[in-house]
Amino acid sequence: MEIVIENFTKRFGDLTVIENMNLIIKEGEMLSLLGPSGCGKSTTLFAICGIARMDEGRVFFGEKDVTHTPTQQRNIGVVFQSYALYPHMTVAQNIAFPLTVRHESKQTIKKEVGEMAELVHIEDLMDRRPEQLSGGQQQRVALARALVRKPGALLLDEPLANLDAKLRLEMRSEIRRVQLETGISAVLVTHDQVEAMSMSDRIAIMKDGKILQVARPAEMYQYPENDFIASFLGNPPIAFLDGIVSDENVVIQSVDLKLPVPENIEVPPNGTSIRLGVRPEFYQPHHPHKIPGTVSFVEIQGRENLYDINLKDGSLLRSIQPADVSPLSPGTKVDWGVQPEQLLFFDKSGKRL
Ligand SMILES: Nc1ncnc2c1ncn2[C@@H]1O[C@H](COP(=O)(O)OP(=O)(O)OP(=O)(O)O)[C@@H](O)[C@H]1O
Ligand SMILES: [Mg+2]
Repeated sequence: MEIVIENFTKRFGDLTVIENMNLIIKEGEMLSLLGPSGCGKSTTLFAICGIARMDEGRVFFGEKDVTHTPTQQRNIGVVFQSYALYPHMTVAQNIAFPLTVRHESKQTIKKEVGEMAELVHIEDLMDRRPEQLSGGQQQRVALARALVRKPGALLLDEPLANLDAKLRLEMRSEIRRVQLETGISAVLVTHDQVEAMSMSDRIAIMKDGKILQVARPAEMYQYPENDFIASFLGNPPIAFLDGIVSDENVVIQSVDLKLPVPENIEVPPNGTSIRLGVRPEFYQPHHPHKIPGTVSFVEIQGRENLYDINLKDGSLLRSIQPADVSPLSPGTKVDWGVQPEQLLFFDKSGKRL
């Protein structure tokens, strides 16, 4: 089912928290709403659910205008951060609940619940109560309960936030698998860029109640429309250096760097301010345009080492490199460099060139 949000505005008193938002969730895709705390992700999801009133705008499910349709009649499955399982019911009863309230026949309920349990791999847990389950298992039950009515869309609000790191990883791929297997359209709300990148077909990145860019994960990582998006995606994050255009080069005087503007970018006039975005994978020992500095911090990550490098003007670059048995220690001077084609160029307002 395709979901269309049209000219959505939401206010709380004088505060406008969503301003004229337009967004399409395509049939069968998983779209992530990604952004910092308070940017309006949950508010957007609530509008799709029909939990919160919209001040302006409309929501369509396929051709159907559901703006004024009550939540119960929207045929959607919802999973929140707190799974909100019914504690006094067994797993089977929890999953069955949406069917029980619709007075489906015992036979139908048994069949549908069995299918769901199989889908999320919890067949062996059906007689337990929620308190006897791990966080990941509870989340699977919540997912099964959300899907048992065969909803037209699945809405997930920070579904993994309560899980520990290992379970989060496991449930990331599980939720994605279930979504792909069922072919259901899904919206995932998260402030975790890794989650958004790894689980979704497309990401809509939000800031202050506005959608800044909608794109496939790899596309957004490589071609962010502005510096905020560039810094939101990628861990360790991108670093920025401020420079000025001078005769087809960007000059960053404070670190003695003179870098040709790559061919695919139209050269801005002399004197234009430029922010260079340098991702850690693109500041490397053998790259030609050198930016010397001093190791200030080393993080051994097992497969890779992460270095913080202090430059002579006090700014910082990060470099991520395959692990070395004897990593450099803090205080070591390095003469690593960059290649202009790999860097991101932003104008003064933060827009990518
Ligand atoms: N009932 C309310 N009354 C007043 N302001 C509200 C209300 N609910 C939400 N807000 C405000 O609306 C904005 C968006 O909130 P929302 O819950 O959508 O953010 P979010 O992106 O989901 O954040 P988080 O990642 O912290 O969950 C915030 O500034 C929040 O303070
Ligand atoms: Mg929220």
